[in-house]
Amino acid sequence: MCGIYGYIGKLNAFDEVYSGLKMLQYRGYDSCGIAYFNDGFKIEKATGTLNNLKKPTEKSEIAFGHTRWATNGRVNYENTHPHVSYNGEFVVVHNGIIDNADELRQNLKVDFKSETDTEVIVNLLATLPGETDSRILQLFDLLKGSYALIIGTKGGTIYLLKKFNPLNLLINSDGIYISSDISSLKSGSLYTLNDYDAIKIENGEIINLRGEEIPLIDYTNDIKKLALGNFEHFMEKEIYETPRAIFGTYNYLEEQNNNIKKIFKPFKKLTFIGCGTAYHSCLVGLELLKDLNFEMDAHLASNYEINKPISKNHLHIIVSQSGETADCIKVAESIKAHKGKLLVITNEGRSTITRCADYVLLTKAEKEIAVASTKTYSCQVFTFAYIANKLKNENQDLDIQKLVNNLNEYLTGLNVKPLAKELKNLDKLILVGKDIDYITLLEASLKIREIDYVYTLPMYSGELKHGTLSLIDENSYVLTLNTSENKNKLKTVINEITSRGGNVVECEINLPQNQIQPCFKPIFNILPFQLLSYQIALEKGLNPDMPRNLAKSVTVE
Ligand code: M6R
Repeated sequence: MCGIYGYIGKLNAFDEVYSGLKMLQYRGYDSCGIAYFNDGFKIEKATGTLNNLKKPTEKSEIAFGHTRWATNGRVNYENTHPHVSYNGEFVVVHNGIIDNADELRQNLKVDFKSETDTEVIVNLLATLPGETDSRILQLFDLLKGSYALIIGTKGGTIYLLKKFNPLNLLINSDGIYISSDISSLKSGSLYTLNDYDAIKIENGEIINLRGEEIPLIDYTNDIKKLALGNFEHFMEKEIYETPRAIFGTYNYLEEQNNNIKKIFKPFKKLTFIGCGTAYHSCLVGLELLKDLNFEMDAHLASNYEINKPISKNHLHIIVSQSGETADCIKVAESIKAHKGKLLVITNEGRSTITRCADYVLLTKAEKEIAVASTKTYSCQVFTFAYIANKLKNENQDLDIQKLVNNLNEYLTGLNVKPLAKELKNLDKLILVGKDIDYITLLEASLKIREIDYVYTLPMYSGELKHGTLSLIDENSYVLTLNTSENKNKLKTVINEITSRGGNVVECEINLPQNQIQPCFKPIFNILPFQLLSYQIALEKGLNPDMPRNLAKSVTVE
């Protein structure tokens, strides 16, 4: 994972890289570091977020840096990037994983200062024979795995290398920018590196070491500066942005209009794929499209393999907020390799996964900063509801303004603080429900685990008596959800729990009086749980935007 950012130009390079990395912290925030050039590269590093990084007083016109999500080696100062070669000749930052790092490390007769695979890259480079350009190119043969690299030499030359992990280069009147995420770049002329590109930047000149041209395209970044406004955290802000995000997604889907029918028409089988929250929206998708006579299944991307030819009647649908999730990209590439058709539903129109797609549908949630997916989940669910309506020819019933008003009214009326206070000392929580409520609880459970560090167990209500009931005692808390018309549905289960001394919290979902189409109910139902996980985090004194050990975008398998 990790974010990498670089700058070469007339502005203060350290500051440019610092602000660029701020936008990339969603890729990891265990530790961070910046190398800046002033008569050789100097390095500032810190564990924790960029707020802990010391800013130098000296100016520099070349700098690059890294914000880390630890994969190889613990979170400590030594393992923090940038890493310098044993002889001081090269400095590197790296996003990705080197699969043969252990083997290479054993063969290199140098002293290592860190446990990282990244330090192996830079020491390997320093021990190779030949001119620097050819040594750089040799890395493609020697390194197994995935990487986006910025390498600096002690003379101030910069090299960019890419295999699998994304890297972009942008030129504008201020200088040259490099980033692992396009959306963190300013406007200018853009080049998205291809696999096995090796680019050298020296004295303002940019050369592709393979001799190929660097085709630039115009890029305008119209993303507004993301500010918290009156909110304390991005997670809270993003939950309250749900109605607006749904409205944006609706308008976008309306512009696609007949496209949706065209996309689905040739197919008889649909396979939904995603990870984490996006997988849960796939499960809702299965429910919402179930009357449409498709043969359907859903899979976690990390657990999906294609080992036979894909029929031409079969559409794969990958849902990914970021479009950068490595597990999803691997499946997307496999679908392409098997000549299958792929629809991608994503919030990031220029993301890596869209390049593998035959069809793309965007969720228009605008940028989501908090690690927990909230408004993007609701937009994914909305997209499936919209598709289901469109394919059933029921779109004429969709009064978007009414839906948005209802969502706003509903959100404003929610008060989960008392429940958050009641649950704040729990370290485990069982959540039970049936049918589509069970899917809502899968997502609710993930949120409470992710943000509050509570061990949660989502269960089908009927399954409790088949083993899990033995967990129940007077210290147990069970949260139940029943949004079906039949209010007696969970009664027996609740009795089973209370008669064993367990505590039951029956979650009431009081939807607005205005009638709500059933397909939109999952969007309403998840909101109290998103807010609950947020409030529990506040009660526990945790930062809901940056839960420990995680990153927003999981760009390693
Ligand atoms: O960017 P993606 O939608 O592909 O991300 C998938 C998961 O990593 C993501 O949904 C994760 O589960 C969320 N942080 C949960 O809130």
